[in-house]
Amino acid sequence: MEAVVRPAKRLKGTLTVPGDKSISHRALMLGALAQGTSVVRGLAPGRDVRSTARCLRALGVPVALANDNSDHDVAVVEGRGLYGLRAPQGPLDAGNSGTTLRLLAGILAGQPFASVLTGDASLRRRPMARIAEPLRRMGALIDYLEGEGRAPLRVRGPSEGRLRAIEHEPPVPSAQVKSCVLLAGLYAEGVTVVRESSPTRDHTERLLARLGAPLELDGLGLEYGRGVRLRGPVERLEPFELRVPGDPSSAAFFVAAAALLPGSELLLRHVGVNPTRTGFLDALRRMGAPIELLDEREVGGEPVADVLVRGAPALRGLELDGAEVPRLIDELPLLAVVATRAEGVTVIRGAKELRVKETDRIRAVALNLRRLGARIEERPDGFVIEGPQALRGGRVEGFGDHRVVMAFAVAGLVARGETTIEGAEWADVSYPQFFEALERVVER
Ligand code: S3P
Repeated sequence: MEAVVRPAKRLKGTLTVPGDKSISHRALMLGALAQGTSVVRGLAPGRDVRSTARCLRALGVPVALANDNSDHDVAVVEGRGLYGLRAPQGPLDAGNSGTTLRLLAGILAGQPFASVLTGDASLRRRPMARIAEPLRRMGALIDYLEGEGRAPLRVRGPSEGRLRAIEHEPPVPSAQVKSCVLLAGLYAEGVTVVRESSPTRDHTERLLARLGAPLELDGLGLEYGRGVRLRGPVERLEPFELRVPGDPSSAAFFVAAAALLPGSELLLRHVGVNPTRTGFLDALRRMGAPIELLDEREVGGEPVADVLVRGAPALRGLELDGAEVPRLIDELPLLAVVATRAEGVTVIRGAKELRVKETDRIRAVALNLRRLGARIEERPDGFVIEGPQALRGGRVEGFGDHRVVMAFAVAGLVARGETTIEGAEWADVSYPQFFEALERVVER
């Protein structure tokens, strides 16, 4: 499917973005392992979270998805307890979702049966040794069924006894790897420790602690070099009710568009502002965008606020290095679009991970920006963009990547002429109503 985006004058109004995708995956998985029924409101509506629900059902956990009257997805998960999963009949298909595959692998590493985890062509190209290595050290049996280090993979618990706890510091900071090891740690004998050189999203830790898991943190927040400890094996997790905050990574597209268009005033309601996720808001502020957090509160153990963004008279470039990258990793394609419109040089370093996301996001962004007439220097671990540059409408590709599609919809709003995005349906992975929502707040 193609989407045609026309230039906009400004963004105005109020919007509620869908629930956080990262938190939604974790809520479904931990709900499945809890002892009893959990209710999750404001669940992320995209295909990725549906993949998690489908895999959990295949493991014998009833997961009912419904839409409440206020148009929010609600999940009711009938948790089977930590030791109540059933062997699946066939391969578990995580679709496009790295979080589904990598987090489930941690849970499945603690089971007395074998499961095969697979996904779509993009997911089958992504690196899996980063989870296989620590899980094997814990005693799990992991086999690659096709290519070394790639899905599909077969995962099962040790042939004798339990997993053993390990200490692990992922060579590249990754919340998926951290969460995978912690979930396996629920089944392991001893204290599982995960350390990270730069903080990554901590939703797994927050939810596990809320469910009564014996977890210790060096502090929730942004201390560098912190660690997390979990004493296993855990016998029981409590069922819960949760309202999921809006996804800051989905809000980011609207924040960027409003900041880029002078005269905009946009209020985004109930957005997650967990400090491990607010790197993009901080970056835009440093670039000169007027962004305010209103009514900061805590909901279900996560910080939430209403985000008010106004059009910036002018933006300036910024430099970002590796330590800051995990706090805005998913927003970097969008930041590249913003950088074309900012005065001065923007340099992103230490973001090699972008090359192994749903697509090679450095390459995708460079190709698309060039198609819109912009100059960008592509580097192995990031990019350099000198602005301000005028974008002219043109034809860009979605590269089967939801975040690339939505980032270039924002480019289309500030370009001269029409921009056509090929493969726009990929936005459904995280934000099925994205284009409709955009039309609601755009003024032309
Ligand atoms: C996620 C972690 C990040 C992020 C992804 C979601 C998560 O991936 O890019 O979109 O929910 O844990 P990595 O752990 O690979 O950095």
